[in-house]
Amino acid sequence: MTGDPLPKASFWDKPDILTQLEGFWLVSTVVDPATTFRSNFNAREDDVVLASSIKTGTTWLMALSHSILKKPENGDPLATDNPHTLVPTVESAPFTNTKVDIYDASAPRLLHTHLPYSHLPASVKNSTCKIVYIARSPKDTLISMWHFFNAIYRRDREPLPLDEAVDCFCTGVHPFGPFSDHVAEYWLESRRRLEKVLFVKYEEMKSDAKREVSRIAEFLGRPLTGEGEAEELLWRCSLERLKNLEVNSSGHDSELVPNAAYFRKGQVGDWKNYLTSQMEERIHQTVGLKLEALGLFF
Ligand code: A3P
Repeated sequence: MTGDPLPKASFWDKPDILTQLEGFWLVSTVVDPATTFRSNFNAREDDVVLASSIKTGTTWLMALSHSILKKPENGDPLATDNPHTLVPTVESAPFTNTKVDIYDASAPRLLHTHLPYSHLPASVKNSTCKIVYIARSPKDTLISMWHFFNAIYRRDREPLPLDEAVDCFCTGVHPFGPFSDHVAEYWLESRRRLEKVLFVKYEEMKSDAKREVSRIAEFLGRPLTGEGEAEELLWRCSLERLKNLEVNSSGHDSELVPNAAYFRKGQVGDWKNYLTSQMEERIHQTVGLKLEALGLFF
């Protein structure tokens, strides 16, 4: 690469682990795969791209979309593979155990990315391939993120002090941050092109799962046949079921990430158990108000 070196930052005490690319912080190791994806990926019209910032319900959306699109005929793939193995995250695929070749266009693909909308390949933006984005309230996202990075970076140490995690979140210096910009890009595109980008909220998935899962299936062109199918799908992809499967309690998605780290409580409002009122106010002033201005997450 020519020109000035890209800005670097530390995260969870790891020096230079983040690199800033066009306004967003990426984990430094994914910059090359993300750049390759952007310049080399040719979307098929019938590909589906799931998108999310981190810790917003990605794993749930992967499980549901995979079950909707690839109706299990010979058993349930989720019983033997973690959702992240079945639906690769394009920018981290080289470092994970996925068996899916993201560049094999011989059949429609179901892929996932944490990349912001502005970093997507032109072929994804300009073709009719569909994008489903899952968003979550900032405070629960932050708490989920805190648990996740403590589980992978501080396995045998005390957790990172929560106020340091709040600081990363509020300054936007975390993987795929700033959070509010990430959500805003997909939200605005979903308003502009209703047929192209479906915007789903974790909280609404929790409060009215049948309605939301039917909406996703409809959007993907595979409407559910009735309540029974929605119920079966929701059971198959439920946190309780997936968390207790052998593959998820013991396997690994990559050297760094045990499958178990993707499944925790899945509770709306869990932030109330952790954040002080000062932390809450800081998140509100920095991230919350920007989302509220878009009409999101009051
Ligand atoms: P908590 O940490 O609040 O429990 P991601 O998949 O984007 O990494 O998000 C992880 C969050 O989604 C975690 O939230 C996790 O418990 C929750 N989650 C994982 N699988 C889920 C499922 N099948 N249903 C509901 N929530 C799920």
